[in-house]
Amino acid sequence: MRRKIAAGNWKMNGTGAALAELDAIAAGLPTAPPEVVICPPAPLLFRAAKVAAAAGLSIGAQDCHMQTSGAFTGDISAQMIADTGATFVIVGHSERREAHAESDSDVRAKAKAAWAADLTPIICIGEELDEREANNTLDIIGGQLAGSVPDAVTATNTVIAYEPIWAIGTGKVPSLDQIIEVHDFIRAQLTKRFGAQIGNALPLLYGGSVKPDNAAHIFAAGNVDGFLVGGASLTARDFLPIISALT
Ligand code: PGA
Repeated sequence: MRRKIAAGNWKMNGTGAALAELDAIAAGLPTAPPEVVICPPAPLLFRAAKVAAAAGLSIGAQDCHMQTSGAFTGDISAQMIADTGATFVIVGHSERREAHAESDSDVRAKAKAAWAADLTPIICIGEELDEREANNTLDIIGGQLAGSVPDAVTATNTVIAYEPIWAIGTGKVPSLDQIIEVHDFIRAQLTKRFGAQIGNALPLLYGGSVKPDNAAHIFAAGNVDGFLVGGASLTARDFLPIISALT
């Protein structure tokens, strides 16, 4: 049995008042819930981690720098994130790859930095719409996996999230067959590179317009082990049914 994970990426949303949603999520968890990871904006990490520790939730950051310290104005190191009590960090989200020109090798370095701080990186990959329309999805995904996932992966130190860029925040979701095709491909690539024990154990999340009404349908794909959710993770009302779809 692989780990099941519901991860919420709050992006640049929420101030202190939003922490009430963590309490509401904790209060509404189903019995035998999956792992629940909330990734709030950096200024909330410390307070969120305090609330989460008591509630059985985990907290993650949305990005980290690849260096441990130095003259990098505005950046945050993995050690600083760990110091808040957070235990996960998203790396290589498409919004970072695009708006901050992050390359696969940057993402790989960030994943290694996360490990060095005892954080679990959630490594994001995904194709653009024109890449899918040109039938290049698997090539793109294969390249991103090879470039972004460091060699020292173990069965427990990493989570991979497949997020087709055209599905993020758009309400457009790939067909179940498309999701199955990509997740099966990712699993096969990981197994080829890292061996069956690691390849079969790594949790693969789907992300991109996951909502309460489509979560159970998407989770039916055998190699989907959970979700990385943006908009619908901002409120307990929307996120709880998504969490429950994983039980
Ligand atoms: P969305 O975002 O659920 O709002 O589409 C997903 C993500 O960017 O992780």
